Parts: sequence; C-alpha cells; structure tokens
Amino acid sequence: MLTNDQLDLWDRAHFLHPSTAFGQHSRGESPTRIVKRASGVFIEDRDGNRLLDAFAGLYCVNVGYGRTEIAEAIAAQAHELSYYHSYVGHGTEASITLARMVAERAPAHMNKVYFGLGGSDANETNVKLVWYIQNVLGRPEKRKIISRWRGYHGSGLITGSMTGLVPFHNKFGLPLPEVVHTEAPYYFRRPDPAMSEADFTAHCAAELEALIEREGADTIGAFIGEPLLGTGGIVPPPAGYWDAIQPILKKHDILLITDEVVTGFGRMGTMMGSDHYGITPDIITIAKGLTSAYAPLSGSIVSDDLARILEEGTDKFGPFGHGWTYSAHPIGAAAGVANLQLIDSLGLVENAGETGAYFRRAMADALSDHRFVGDVRGDGMLAAVELQRDPDARVDFDAGEKVTAQVVAEMVRRGVIARAMPQGEIIGFAPPLCLNRTEADTIVAARRDGRDAVTPLFSRGLVGARAARAPGLPDADLTGLTVAALPRRGLQQP
Ligand SMILES: Cc1ncc(COP(=O)(O)O)c(C=O)c1O
Repeated sequence: MLTNDQLDLWDRAHFLHPSTAFGQHSRGESPTRIVKRASGVFIEDRDGNRLLDAFAGLYCVNVGYGRTEIAEAIAAQAHELSYYHSYVGHGTEASITLARMVAERAPAHMNKVYFGLGGSDANETNVKLVWYIQNVLGRPEKRKIISRWRGYHGSGLITGSMTGLVPFHNKFGLPLPEVVHTEAPYYFRRPDPAMSEADFTAHCAAELEALIEREGADTIGAFIGEPLLGTGGIVPPPAGYWDAIQPILKKHDILLITDEVVTGFGRMGTMMGSDHYGITPDIITIAKGLTSAYAPLSGSIVSDDLARILEEGTDKFGPFGHGWTYSAHPIGAAAGVANLQLIDSLGLVENAGETGAYFRRAMADALSDHRFVGDVRGDGMLAAVELQRDPDARVDFDAGEKVTAQVVAEMVRRGVIARAMPQGEIIGFAPPLCLNRTEADTIVAARRDGRDAVTPLFSRGLVGARAARAPGLPDADLTGLTVAALPRRGLQQP
C-alpha cells in the first residue's frame, strides 16, 4: 500500500485540483487532505483524523455517507449492466424508474426530465432548451438569460457566465454577452439600511423591470435563480421576493428556471425549494441531492407546456441535437432510485425541516450577539454566519485578512468541517439531511461546552487582528473548503 508521503508527492506533482491555487499546491505551501472513508456525517482521512462534515461534501451527500442500500444498488447495476446510452429512445429499468420518481416529486405541472451528469451540464442543457424553444416559437432573438449577482449555476461557459460571483469570471473573459445580471436578493447587503424587507423586495423587482426595459424583453429568453442563494452566501430571499419576481417574468414572456441543485430533494424541509417558496418554474435543475453524490447524475425537469413545444419542434425539425454519452448513466440512475427511496423511508425531508430549524436556532442563540457576527441566517438544513469588523457600522473585514478562512481552519482543527463561502466573510453550513440534534450541537455548541471553534477563536483575539495573515491558508480557495493543517503522518494507514 502507498504511504501518505508518497501520495502527497504524487498529488503535488500530477493533480490539478478544481478551485485551487495551483502554485501553492504544487510547491507544497498549502495543506491537503487525503480522505479515506466516511460514515453517517463523519469523514476520516488517511492520517486518522475524524471530522464532522457540516457541509455534506459540497452540499450533496444528503443521506449521509456509507449507505449500504445505495452501494448495493450501484454494485448490482454494475454487475448486470454497467453502461448503456440513452440516445434515440434507449433506456434502462433504473433510468426509466428514476424519471418516474423525479416526476412524482416535482411540481404537478412538470412531468419530464432530461438527465445529465452534474449541475453545470444540466444548466448548460437548460440554456439550450430555452434557445431551442424560443426558436421553435419563432423568436430566435429571445436569447439572453437574466441571472442574479451572487447566483451560482456552475462553472462551464454559459453556466460560469450565469454564476454571479466575480472569482468565477476572472481571467476567463466571462460573462458571455448572452448573460445579464440583476440585483442579488441579499437583504443583509441592502443599499439602504433603513429599507424594510418589503422595501428591498420592491427594489429588487424594480431593478429587474429596469434591466428588462434596458435590454428589451424581446431579447430575453429566461431568468435563472436558486430558490435561495447558495454558494453566493446561503441567503434566503427577502419576504415576498418570488411573489414579486414571477409576475414580471410572466408579463414579459420570460421563462423561469429554478436551479434546485442544492435545494432539490429535501434540503429546505420540502421536497423541492420551489414548493417551499411558492415558485412555479418552467424548468428545474436537479443534481446533488438526486443521488446524494453516490454517483454523478443531474437533470432538467421541464413543464408540460415546454414538453409540448419540444415535441412540436422535433416533429418539425428532426431529433433534438443535444446529449451526453453519460446522460442517464445506469449506475447514476440506480444510485438515484435507491437514494430517493432512502430519503422517503428515513423521513429525511421532515428531518431537514425539524432538525434544520433546531440547528439554526442553536446557531443563532450561540452566535448572534457576538461582536463580529453581522448576520446569522438560513432556512431548512442550511445556515450561514456572516462576519464583519463592526456590524453596527456595517464595516467589513479586509479580504486579505482571511478571517473566515481562519475561523473555518480552527473549526477543522476542532473536528468540524464548515465552508468559507467564496465571496465575502461568510461561514456556511449544509450538513447531511440525516443530522441529529446531538450532531447539530457538536457543530454549534462553542459557548456551552467548548466543542465549537468559533467563539474561542474570537475570544483569543485571533479574528480581527489585522496583521494575522494565516500562513498555510490557500490564496484563491474558491470553494472555501479550507484544509487546515492537521497532523500529517507519513505512515501507511490501513
Ligand atoms: C445551485 C447550483 N447550481 C449548479 C451547480 C453546479 O453543479 P456541478 O458542480 O455539479 O457542476 C452548483 C454547484 O454547487 C450549485 O450549487
């Protein structure tokens, strides 16, 4: 078996990791982690460190790690039929069953799904669906996509463009001209502190109207938004936001894509985030929670109206010229079927609502009155803590201080993985939906029992010390999944 030292050398020599500062990584200036096994809400690395994963990987391992039901379904599928494509009407028992299960869980007016592999490619598919549909309807100029600043929709070409986070545009020449961005529904960052939530919602709606006016409604094909901003900071929308936005889109004949890659299949305490916020989409993006990341699979769910237009289009113009070799991959589909069954049988949607509420309350109780905490927010099994140097005066920390990265690194040293969100000083939490109250307490309980790292770090004055540049913290860690240096043993691990 390979030693950890050997793996570390090979890693730095050969592996270009996503969202990573390549130079620091290859020079060995930033810590790494070689993950070995996982069970429930805990992961374990090859150095023997056991960590509570309060971000469920990349908010995707919704049922928790080590579920034998899913592992066995994958193994059985691989033995019987490891692969067959889904082009020109081919399917498998798993992919057809999963399509049915997705339709049963989607809003009533949505009954067809186009399978992909990950959230980015599903959103690429969505844009092509919109362009195709607008063409079939005889209005090819209705092509632009409106996205929100701080939205996250992937890191492909059009999806990276729709993502409204500057680090994902820098040095790529993005966004592409087909994408225009509107105001982020981010009440904490409202332009005028005197605004009520209702005022701010009206402001977001007015900004959207103004953008549509400027661009011309006849050039805009669709609007894309996550029900609640995820990677942009885990920000629930201000009250009445979706009720205000949807009529504007309807009025201008603009399709609505809700990106439910994070919120789909239970994270909000409802099956879909659209159910939770009263959204009636034309297209829904699904990925992560579809298989709980046991195998890659994503999907684009379309409304009955759009499905009809797609059928008319192919009747007129021939088969839909879009697909991936691995669309509806049987192993992903088998994982999806087992995963959705497990979500039902374990009552994880309900648990996400109940334990999520407990978790968020405990977080707010523990941290709200801390002098560097500007905001504690969340919904369902999602929470975030936003840090500021002076919350009363709305003064932020300097980005170079890496305050959140330091806090998150300290939490890792204390056995809990949270995420420093990529833009702003925001600590994000998105535990597996099977989290129980004891595990929630383990994440939160700093003040009461010292198990949490945040408050001791604050009270020792590490946070907020302007000079405290933390050596060993990567510079451009876009996902914010800071790898704190834990004891690294070069010994072989069993
Ligand atoms: C809302 C949302 N959409 C799309 C994506 C992209 O998914 P993937 O990384 O699987 O391409 C993500 C990933 O975090 C996401 O959060």
